[in-house]
Parts: sequence; C-alpha cells; structure tokens
Amino acid sequence: MTVSVNSPVWQHVNKQRTVKHVGTDWTSWCIRCCRGKDTVMALLWRRLKLVVTVMMVNLFIFIIIARHNSQDKNGHKVRIPSKPFWNKLVASPAYWNHQQQILDLHNNPILGANYSDADLPWANDTSLTSDPCQPNSRVTTQVKDYNSLPARFKDFLIYMHCRSYPIMVDQPDVCREPPFLLLAVKSLAPHFDRRQAIRQSWGKAGVIANQTVVTIFLLGNATAGDHHPDLSEMLHYESVRHKDIIQWDFRDSFFNLTVKEVLFLEWIQTRCTSAQFIFKGDDDVFVNTYRILDFLKGLSEPKARDLFVGDLITNAGPHRDKKVKYFIPESMYIGTYPPYAGGGGYLYSGVVAARLHNVSQHVALYPIDDVYTGMCLRKLGLAPEKHKGFRTFNIEVKYRSNPCAYKSLMLVHPRTPQEMIQIWAWLSSPNLNCQ
Ligand SMILES: *[C@@H]1O[C@H](CO)[C@@H](O)[C@H](O)[C@H]1NC(C)=O
Ligand SMILES: *[C@@H]1O[C@H](CO)[C@@H](O)[C@H](O)[C@H]1NC(C)=O
Ligand SMILES: *[C@@H]1O[C@H](CO)[C@@H](O)[C@H](O)[C@H]1NC(C)=O
Ligand SMILES: *[C@@H]1O[C@H](CO)[C@@H](O)[C@H](O)[C@H]1NC(C)=O
Ligand SMILES: *[C@@H]1O[C@H](CO)[C@@H](O)[C@H](O)[C@H]1NC(C)=O
Ligand SMILES: *[C@@H]1O[C@H](CO)[C@@H](O)[C@H](O)[C@H]1NC(C)=O
Repeated sequence: MTVSVNSPVWQHVNKQRTVKHVGTDWTSWCIRCCRGKDTVMALLWRRLKLVVTVMMVNLFIFIIIARHNSQDKNGHKVRIPSKPFWNKLVASPAYWNHQQQILDLHNNPILGANYSDADLPWANDTSLTSDPCQPNSRVTTQVKDYNSLPARFKDFLIYMHCRSYPIMVDQPDVCREPPFLLLAVKSLAPHFDRRQAIRQSWGKAGVIANQTVVTIFLLGNATAGDHHPDLSEMLHYESVRHKDIIQWDFRDSFFNLTVKEVLFLEWIQTRCTSAQFIFKGDDDVFVNTYRILDFLKGLSEPKARDLFVGDLITNAGPHRDKKVKYFIPESMYIGTYPPYAGGGGYLYSGVVAARLHNVSQHVALYPIDDVYTGMCLRKLGLAPEKHKGFRTFNIEVKYRSNPCAYKSLMLVHPRTPQEMIQIWAWLSSPNLNCQ
C-alpha cells in the first residue's frame, strides 16, 4: 500500500496526532477496506514515519555529496605538503637558551632518547655527561665573549651545571612539629644583627596566632677568597644556640643565590615536607607575620594548594647596561622574562614547593634567583600572583613611621634591624588602634 500526499492519512498528519476527530470521508474509506479502523490507523502511521525518515536521510546524504562536489570544483582539495611545514630546531646563540634547549630535548617525553645526534649535533654537549661539579672549561670557548665578561659571569658559567654542594650545618629536627608556616630567610654569615632582629621580631618562632611558625636562615660560605673575615666559630656558636642555621659549602655570592634556591627546595623535601606554607625572603625586609597568617587562614582549599604570591614583576627582560647589578649579556640570555615575584620575599604552599623541586631539575640555572623561580613556575604552568601587601619597593616616605601603615601589609623592603624591632613592637601592642 502506498500513501500519497493527498490521502486522508497525510491530511490527518498535517492536522494533529490525535485520532479522535477524524472526518466522515476517512471513516467510510476505512470501513470499506479494512476490518478494524484502529489497527489500520496504527499500521499507516508507522509506515508514514518510516517513509518520512528515509526521505530525510536521502536529503541529508544529497546535501553532503553536493557540498563535497562543489568544494572539489572550487579546488579546496586536501593537499599534502611536499616539505616539512615546521621549523627545524636550531641552536640558540645564547648560552643559557642553548643549555635549556638541550635539557628540553633530553626531557621531552615524545622525543625521548629517540632524536638522533646526527639530526641535531649541537644537542650533544659532552660537558653534561661528565661530573657537573667539575669546572667546565668548555664554556670559555662556547660563550663567544667569555673573556671580556665580568668575573662573576665567568664564575657562574664554569659551575653552572653544579647543583649539589655539601651541607655544613643542618637542623634535621626543626620541622618535627609540622609548621603551618616556615619562614626561610636568605642571609649571609656576617649578618648576625639582622638574624637576631628577625628572631626578636617577625621571625619569632613558636606559636603565633595559634599556628606553628618555624624560622630558619639559609647560608652559603662567606669565603676568604671574597675577603670575608673567618666567622666560622661565631656562626657555630649561633647555630648551637638558636638551632635555626642551615649552611651549605658554596661561595655565598649574588649569582649563587639560585644555587641556594635549589638547595633549599631539596632541603624542604628531605627535612620539612610537613610545612603547609613557606615564606622565602631576604634578611633586610620586615614581614608582618600576623597579616600573613591571617591571609593564609582565609584561603580556600584549591587556592591554598596552588599558592604563589608576592610582588609580581611582569614584562621584564634582561638589563643590557653593564653598570646595572642585574646586567646579563646577550651571549648569555635572549628573550624576555616570565612573570616572577621579586626575591625580597614571596609566599607559596608546600605542594608548590614539591612541584618546584621536581621541575627545577629541568630548568638550567640562571644567575638571578627570582627570575629562575619564575622560569620554573612557567614550566609548571603556574602563574605567580600579585598581592599588594608585598612592598619590595618600599612605601611612601610619609607613611614609614605610621604604625597603622604596616597593619594591612605583608612585607616591606628595606628595613634595618632596629626598624624591624620597632615595627614589630607597634604591631604587637594591644593599644594599636587603627580603623
Ligand atoms: C623510538 O624509536 C623506536 C625505534 O624506531 C620505536 O620503536 C619507539 O617506539 C620510539 N619511541 C618513541 C617514544 O617514539
Ligand atoms: C656525543 O658525542 C660524543 C663524541 O663527540 C660521543 O662519544 C657520544 O656517544 C655522543 N653522545 C650521544 C648521546 O650520542
Ligand atoms: C587554638 O587552637 C585550639 C585547638 O585547635 C582551639 O581550641 C582554640 O580555640 C584556638 N584558639 C584561638 C585563639 O584561635
Ligand atoms: C667554607 O667554610 C669552611 C669553614 O670556614 C672552610 O673550611 C671551607 O674551605 C669553605 N669552603 C669554601 C668553598 O670556601
Ligand atoms: C658558586 O659557588 C661555587 C662553589 O663554592 C663557586 O665555585 C662558584 O665560583 C660560585 N659562583 C659564583 C657566581 O660566585
Ligand atoms: C615529583 O617527581 C616524583 C618522581 O618523578 C614523583 O613521584 C612525584 O609525584 C613528583 N611530585 C610532584 C609534587 O610533582
């Protein structure tokens, strides 16, 4: 049986699905040819649905074929490029960038060990396979203006691959009681007064605002080669007395602060994995520990896990003026810097510390420690956050002696030992009344 568009069935479909109000024509036609009108209705209805579905599918296939044909006619065919459409990886002329390219190749999970040295001969740097802590004399020829670089660059480059130095003073039990906040202060052996001021003020270890706070000082060696007096006995006395000194046997210089950073990340993983949060900063800053604890306690769980906050520096790059402390020659680094938090002080979670420790093994050491940490964060896909409570470039002169100016801040740089004690006294006073 076929159903034409003029048939009563079609008309019925055009109206409504309800079978109740069918016309007289329909009833008579139905009685003429069928036994029961309900059975024939159901049969017709099912057939109609099938026919409409088949028509729709045909139309669809037609549209697809038509489109495909018209595309071919217009020349939009799939074409396979005859040459590779990507750029072949070429060695960067800058030493750090080049070392990072090599690290990236060796750590690439897809390339693995599968790229051949014949393809990329520059990626086979034999200085990487020998003992990384032996002086690497190859840099003297690999860095094109090596001989004209200031001495600190030569020192850095020769030991750039060395990340492990022996620990001379350790505090294995300092985190026996898991700290809510670990305050890690970069210090230099002769800075006894700064360390003592920190102990008596913002770095007062113990329980502050009901949270366990632990303070440690991170030191390298103030060597005779840098004309430092021999302070080793005083330092020994200090570490026995306060049990808060961590010291490694490397030359404590500005360009070795990155070494201090990676050694500290390693130390956390061996001695203080229980720390929930870590503040790392300089010994010439004032830290409002009360405000930091307050801030940390108010964080949501996901925010706390990925925390990395400080005084954010964005859109920066290397200084090319030789007279600037942060000067970096083009033979060493090209490109911009990732966003990073100023090294005066920043705050992060124990989880981030573990991740930084892992990823730092895949980032070549860079002579500026806070930029290096920014590079590690970028590799992790974590964005450091700006918090306006971190004032590494100080506050306006007129507010500096106003106790209330410090109440909502987390860090101010720079402050002398006496100023630290003064400001801490202001903030700890029960009479401090700021609205
Ligand atoms: C490396 O190459 C070998 C041999 O060509 C192949 O079997 C293997 O799957 C490759 N590995 C990767 C990670 O591409
Ligand atoms: C790198 O080159 C040296 C010789 O120049 C060769 O002995 C060594 O096997 C190469 N390394 C790799 C990983 O192929
Ligand atoms: C300190 O912590 C204890 C136990 O967690 C709690 O009972 C007490 O109320 C807290 N005190 C303050 C001042 O938050
Ligand atoms: C570090 O200091 C110790 C003790 O003062 C000294 O024996 C050692 O030679 C120093 N290390 C370096 C690299 O100067
Ligand atoms: C870093 O420390 C090592 C070990 O003491 C030293 O050999 C190197 O010269 C230092 N680097 C800089 C840039 O001071
Ligand atoms: C660090 O790396 C180790 C070994 O690859 C891995 O087991 C661990 O989960 C990593 N930790 C973090 C925090 O990524």
